[in-house]
Amino acid sequence: MTILVTGGAGFIGGNFVLDWLAQSEETVVNLDALTYAGNLDTLRSLRDKPQHVFIHGSIGDRPLVEKLLAEHRPRAVINFAAESHVDRSIHGPSDFIETNIVGTFNLLESVRGYWMGLSAEDKQAFRFLHVSTDEVYGTLSPQDPPFAETHRYEPNSPYSASKAASDHLVRAWHHTYGLPVLTTNCSNNYGPYHFPEKLIPLVILNALAGKPLPIYGDGQQVRDWLYVKDHCSAIRRVLEAGRLGETYNVGGWNEKANLQVVNTICAILDELKPRADGASYAAQIAFVQDRPGHDRRYAIDARKLERELGWKPAETFDSGIRKTVEWYLANPQWVENVASGHYRDWIDQQYGQIA
Ligand code: NAD
Ligand code: TYD
Repeated sequence: MTILVTGGAGFIGGNFVLDWLAQSEETVVNLDALTYAGNLDTLRSLRDKPQHVFIHGSIGDRPLVEKLLAEHRPRAVINFAAESHVDRSIHGPSDFIETNIVGTFNLLESVRGYWMGLSAEDKQAFRFLHVSTDEVYGTLSPQDPPFAETHRYEPNSPYSASKAASDHLVRAWHHTYGLPVLTTNCSNNYGPYHFPEKLIPLVILNALAGKPLPIYGDGQQVRDWLYVKDHCSAIRRVLEAGRLGETYNVGGWNEKANLQVVNTICAILDELKPRADGASYAAQIAFVQDRPGHDRRYAIDARKLERELGWKPAETFDSGIRKTVEWYLANPQWVENVASGHYRDWIDQQYGQIA
């Protein structure tokens, strides 16, 4: 049997493919456009594994996707492919519309054509799992309950609006055409192989490089952090037993203010790799201009996933963040390879004033 994963050279998709092939003999066809965020180095350990078939290409390329589906006949498609960085979506939203909305539409159409041609039994067993975000729900006040699946969609950034649109398309392809879909809406992930444009890897690497640790605004924005391997286990569980057409919120009950996250990383680094001058890495914290339209708080109510499918995260924030810092300290080569020209350009554009 075979699954088709899209965006499997990115942060979460890469972890998903690695975890999948560590536990299963089932072939993974991995379709990735290798944008700045796609990194084959993450998949280096799979180079000689015949169960990993990497294809360089876009979810929006219908002839290619149709050919792949016809050739490999997957029993499921798991769609991670997306533009995923809020700050980039503010600077240049068009890639987000193209990939997250138009790309998802094209993928759905290719998959629908394939699915309609399957035997009755295969048709029934087939799944299209769309990986989405809690950011589609907008922002919460401190006293609001966490986002449940019934929360209305109120996206605030070009990124979250494009993901919200893709979720609606997936839903419509189920209701209109009967495509057997599942959607997961997850909170902020962190862990190994995370591209250092996002808060946690950026702070770890800037700290070690003696650079400022940029905190937007007052640093009191709250995110609900989930260790990436817990997200992967949730997706596997939803794929296995999720009810068709349903959405499942995925989170770890780990709400933290950004400043608290950065201070925690500094404290772990102070312990594992103290600065030569004996000062704390926290001395490098620099408050910078806030992100426009910055959502104040995200929090996930993951009780549906626990109640219906028995899923629970394995890591607490304390255990996961320590593992993450240790991973970055142990993998300087991966970090060095990822810091490509594109990445340097982004850092100069976004943080020029403090870099
Ligand atoms: P990422 O930016 O690290 O990786 C995205 C991957 O998709 C890259 O490998 C990129 O090359 C690939 N890609 C981009 N456009 C493509 C296209 N047209 N065709 C094929 N591949 C393409 O993102 P991530 O953090 O791994 O997120 C994966 C998914 O999970 C996204 O859909 C994102 O919205 C969702 N998500 C992310 C988080 C998070 O905290 N990172 C949380 C919840 C949900
Ligand atoms: P990020 O990792 O970009 O994820 P998202 O915007 O999808 O939640 O950012 C996490 C939080 O950290 C968010 O509130 C923005 C903040 N942040 C900073 O304060 N400084 C930074 O340099 C970055 C990249 C993010």
